[in-house]
Amino acid sequence: MKRLENKVILVAGGGGIGSELARRYAGEGASVVLGDMDASSAGKVVKDIVAAGGKSIATQLDGSDQASVAAAVTLACDTFGGLDGLHANFACFADGRLNVGVLDLPLDVYDEMMQVNARGFLICTQKVLPSMIARGGGSIVYTSSGAAHVPGEVRVAYSMSKVAGHALMRHVATRYGRDGIRANVIAPGLIMHPSLAAVTGPEFEKHAISLTPIKSRLGRPDDIAALGALLMSDEGSYITGQVISVDGGATMRS
Ligand SMILES: NC(=O)c1ccc[n+]([C@@H]2O[C@H](COP(=O)([O-])OP(=O)(O)OC[C@H]3O[C@@H](n4cnc5c(N)ncnc54)[C@H](O)[C@@H]3O)[C@@H](O)[C@H]2O)c1
Repeated sequence: MKRLENKVILVAGGGGIGSELARRYAGEGASVVLGDMDASSAGKVVKDIVAAGGKSIATQLDGSDQASVAAAVTLACDTFGGLDGLHANFACFADGRLNVGVLDLPLDVYDEMMQVNARGFLICTQKVLPSMIARGGGSIVYTSSGAAHVPGEVRVAYSMSKVAGHALMRHVATRYGRDGIRANVIAPGLIMHPSLAAVTGPEFEKHAISLTPIKSRLGRPDDIAALGALLMSDEGSYITGQVISVDGGATMRS
């Protein structure tokens, strides 16, 4: 029996990491709903999953919109009979274009970041919890970032929006543990995938590798998916309330 057999998981946000989450969860036997703003890219991933014998459907999803998230939850329940897992993975990177400190951070950019990354994860949580509690419990995983731990001269809105998810996770783990709900955060370091590689380049990658104890390679989406699968599975049933870094040791701390 595969580890995630009989589980239904909503992956909110595809792209470089989320597509691999969907592939991995389906490969381990889960029925996966992959939602993304870009429905056609989610559709391509789902096509591959189904061709490989997995169970998956794609849907257009705006994780920061209540009606859109509610529709994805209904789709999961109607298609696969319930919901056991949410991986909230999408992100807005609007402040990545700005090389500014807090004095020069436009408030509309800050608002957009918090609207998607913090409020969006809150909305996803609100919409999935009733179905998961009705099912007898489940697992919620939020994708954060090393930027939530390390100081930085730029991208303060991104860091703030990711830290908000840690507080949300701890609340969910604390209050809904009695309902069988577990909640955890994965904090990736630099995870290379094609669309990121297209805007970085070899010098950047060399520098990034020099900052981690593991010198042989950078992170890959399957590094995140491997931990996600553990946290979604019954093998992870005693892990809750944690922020776990997958970053080659870049942010090691006690
Ligand atoms: N790649 C890295 O190095 C890295 C490092 C640290 C943290 N992360 C985190 O990992 C997650 C995935 O990052 P990625 O590198 O795969 O990025 P990506 O840009 O490849 O994927 C993000 C996906 O989210 C989707 N999306 C954006 N807004 C959305 C919304 N409102 N509703 C639904 N979907 C939406 C995009 O269409 C895209 O497909 C993010 O939460 C990011 O903050 C990534």
